[in-house]
Amino acid sequence: MSEEHESARGWRLPRTVALIGLMGAGKSSVGRRVATRLGVPFLDADAEIEAAAGCTIAEVFARDGEAAFRDGERRVIARLLDGPPCILATGGGAFMDPETRAAIRRNAVSLWLRADLETLVGRTTGRTHRPLLMQGDPRETLRRLMEERYPVYAEADIIIDTSADVAREFMEQQVAEALERYFAGGESPP
Ligand code: S3P
Repeated sequence: MSEEHESARGWRLPRTVALIGLMGAGKSSVGRRVATRLGVPFLDADAEIEAAAGCTIAEVFARDGEAAFRDGERRVIARLLDGPPCILATGGGAFMDPETRAAIRRNAVSLWLRADLETLVGRTTGRTHRPLLMQGDPRETLRRLMEERYPVYAEADIIIDTSADVAREFMEQQVAEALERYFAGGESPP
């Protein structure tokens, strides 16, 4: 691997890291920072799905329905997991798909950015690109998704707590250090 993939602290990412977590957890913003810090590409599964579909996720949901979106998501993530090590932000529902979860397990290290409800509500309010939060009460939707998804997200290799009170720079550092420990063979943090 080339030197550009050496991190500032002299280790290189041996495997793709799939960031998982609910909408608003900060997967894209933290992921982009961590990728820059480690000198590896950052890929956003949602953006790749939109590029493949030639339209926005909201349009895919409206035109073809959620099941079609999930099919596309499964295919796109499988393709991205086949590439060289990167930081890969996955959409909140991706890890819930058994096939995608198995592919992540085979080809990547999973890292859950675990956030509390207030953080998720605060970070998603006023944004209109997430179809699941555009109908009904978004707080109630997020609460229900936490209930359904957190037990499955808990299967992640690494779990890091995040909250609106914590600066992005600190999150970046936390994630980078957790990865360094993980790949050095250490324990993942509680
Ligand atoms: C979804 C999360 C979204 C996007 C789609 C569905 C979900 O991604 O994939 O709207 O099921 O939680 P983010 O988690 O990046 O917002």
